[in-house]
Amino acid sequence: MKVNTIYLDNSATTKPYQEVMQTFMAVNEQYYANPASIHAMGVESNALLMRAREQVADILKTEAKNVLFTSGGTESNNTAILGLARANTHKGKHVLTTEIEHLSVLESVKQLEKEGFEIDYLRVNKQGVISLDELRAKIRKDTILVSMMHVNNEMGAIQPIFEAAAIVHAESRAAFHVDAVQSFGKLPLTFKGEDGPDCITISGHKIHGFKGSGVLAFRKQMQWQPYALGGGQEFGLRSGTVAVPQAVALAKAARMAVETMNDRSNNYRNWQQQLRTALAHFGDMVHIISTPACAAHILSFSVRDIKGEVLINALQKHGVIVSTSSACSSKQTKTSHVVEALNIDEHFKKGVIRVSFGAHVTSDDIAQLIQVINTVLKELKGERL
Ligand SMILES: Cc1ncc(COP(=O)(O)O)c(C=O)c1O
Repeated sequence: MKVNTIYLDNSATTKPYQEVMQTFMAVNEQYYANPASIHAMGVESNALLMRAREQVADILKTEAKNVLFTSGGTESNNTAILGLARANTHKGKHVLTTEIEHLSVLESVKQLEKEGFEIDYLRVNKQGVISLDELRAKIRKDTILVSMMHVNNEMGAIQPIFEAAAIVHAESRAAFHVDAVQSFGKLPLTFKGEDGPDCITISGHKIHGFKGSGVLAFRKQMQWQPYALGGGQEFGLRSGTVAVPQAVALAKAARMAVETMNDRSNNYRNWQQQLRTALAHFGDMVHIISTPACAAHILSFSVRDIKGEVLINALQKHGVIVSTSSACSSKQTKTSHVVEALNIDEHFKKGVIRVSFGAHVTSDDIAQLIQVINTVLKELKGERL
């Protein structure tokens, strides 16, 4: 029997929107000239690139000259952290981040540490949220950079980034970088208002755009050191021929993400609630890691003494695709740094499963998911059906 595939691993990556694929094809067909070329075709592709930049700037409420197109969340995070820290050593060498950041942030700050920077990590509580008091205690006059994710990729915890920004700006001259890879298009986030991020990372493939595309955007022009050196494209800040089709496709995906945000969020919230109710029937056999305050599109849970891979394979046999808590580290056997930070009971540490919704998921998919979870968990519990 062929089972329908229900893809619920949208925090790992999403299926591109049909419209985004059409845009990408059309731009590749017609506007393939190098946007740095001075002939008419180059001027046309540059105009298209500039329009894409303006569209992203408009969404984020900044100016087009503050939007850079990159190869994705990893490059944007690396560039923001290494670039901002290395260019501001005259103000200090202290950097703050949290212990549950994505590895593209954690590895960047580790690199800074090797270069003589001092790194401090904010801890999180069992809900995965930092303490503003700890931030107040750890921020210093010589802190030059604070990097904090908006939504955690493994369990959906939302950080109080606007309150955090107010503290950072009041207590230091630090730049406040927000990794919004998991929140853009799911929660409101712009540069509007006094207190908010100074710098935002977005990834195309998490918003039904393409893998290998991203944005690094700034509130205003800032001092930072580029790390891709060469022809001086992207205002001299990221060398390399700009991938115009990716940029235009990303702008399209970003617009669609923002336009559909409210409807999708309502769906995600309802589906998350349905899933919570279904899991609650299994009592202390299941531990739901994501709290109701977490982002609506992610629900992480764990089954007592069951390995994540076992559960993933069992669900997959019924056509349901989910992942262990994070796709980047899912092939590693050690417990993830996020699960460790949450201080989860030993019985639930090995089997954290992440269900993540996206724009192509339907209510029927969720009904089927719940049926499959019931079947699989009852089997695991050793009950006869
Ligand atoms: C929170 C977060 N930051 C950064 C990244 C890296 O983004 P990319 O895959 O575009 O390099 C990811 C990807 O999973 C993520 O979830």
